[in-house]
Amino acid sequence: MKYSILYLQILGVMAFLFTLPASTCFAQEQSKISPGEIWPDRDGNHIQAHGGGILKIKNTYYWYGEQRRQGLDTNFRYVSCYASKDLINWEFKGDALKLGGLDTLLGHKWVLERPKVFYNPKTKKFVMYMHIDGKYKRGTTSSTVTNNYTYASVGVAISDKPAGPFKYLKCFRPLGHESRDIGQFVDDDGTAYLIFEDRPAKGFHIAKLSDDYLTVEKDVCLIKAPLEGGAIVHYNGLYYAIGSALTGWRPNPNLYATATSLSGPWSEFKDIAPSETNTYGSQSTLMLKITGSKKTAVIFMGDIWKPKTQWDSRYLWMPLEIGEGKLWLPKPEPWTINLKTGETK
Ligand code: DGJ
Repeated sequence: MKYSILYLQILGVMAFLFTLPASTCFAQEQSKISPGEIWPDRDGNHIQAHGGGILKIKNTYYWYGEQRRQGLDTNFRYVSCYASKDLINWEFKGDALKLGGLDTLLGHKWVLERPKVFYNPKTKKFVMYMHIDGKYKRGTTSSTVTNNYTYASVGVAISDKPAGPFKYLKCFRPLGHESRDIGQFVDDDGTAYLIFEDRPAKGFHIAKLSDDYLTVEKDVCLIKAPLEGGAIVHYNGLYYAIGSALTGWRPNPNLYATATSLSGPWSEFKDIAPSETNTYGSQSTLMLKITGSKKTAVIFMGDIWKPKTQWDSRYLWMPLEIGEGKLWLPKPEPWTINLKTGETK
């Protein structure tokens, strides 16, 4: 009798397990970041945070990016949010922004790319910037233009909480300039900057945000190099800027330059990796600085795009070799970081 109850209990547990989504059964604690591989979140689903940015609040990292999972309602564009305490295992916090209704302004194939979130300590608001584009020229609602990157503007959304929901506020051209790929940079003194690519000027701007972060206030520098995917880090008294050439979704040799001040002058640009590897198939989106008790690590965050199957696009995150004016992306391999000491291996 005792055994038949036990048998029924085991059957019950098995029946319950079969009702769980397959992904739940396979979710595992991961010990390493494996560049270029499927990167499962805590539910076992490949992380969807493409063209992303990172925000650290206390000891939690938030990763925002383009949500491109299959089956999304194509009337909307989505920004995802993930949270982690170790940079390796990420919990999906949901879609922080679900944005629709811009078809009239931009055409129905409009794009939302490269979202970045800043936290404003004065207003206590989370402020999201994103590249908003479409095929209509600004000021018109019809066009023979077929290029979905004609509108060239930034969108701004706001939230009280890191995971949203974010409320869309507006869309504009920063300081009147065309703006496509955007990047974020917060300096050691807490000043927040938007990096944005300006095609007519053949370069990318570093521009200071206003006190409330809701607009772009001052151009600090136009780096005269036709690069997108712009990212900046301040390391040991020197600024390092990286970017990628304008080759659409195809990878190219990403480059870096240095300056003692954000306003320049900036050095010549040089390769960050052997040029024949095309940055190991990736494109820059951010450099993340981790200041530990023993070391300061700088992590290169890049996207390995799969333009026809965007939901399967991968990530290349690797600690950079950086210092004394040099920056180098080592050959990708699985690695881990001790966030307390800053040591990577
Ligand atoms: C390169 C950009 O970096 C991406 O964000 C995206 O806009 C593609 N171009 C589109 O071709």
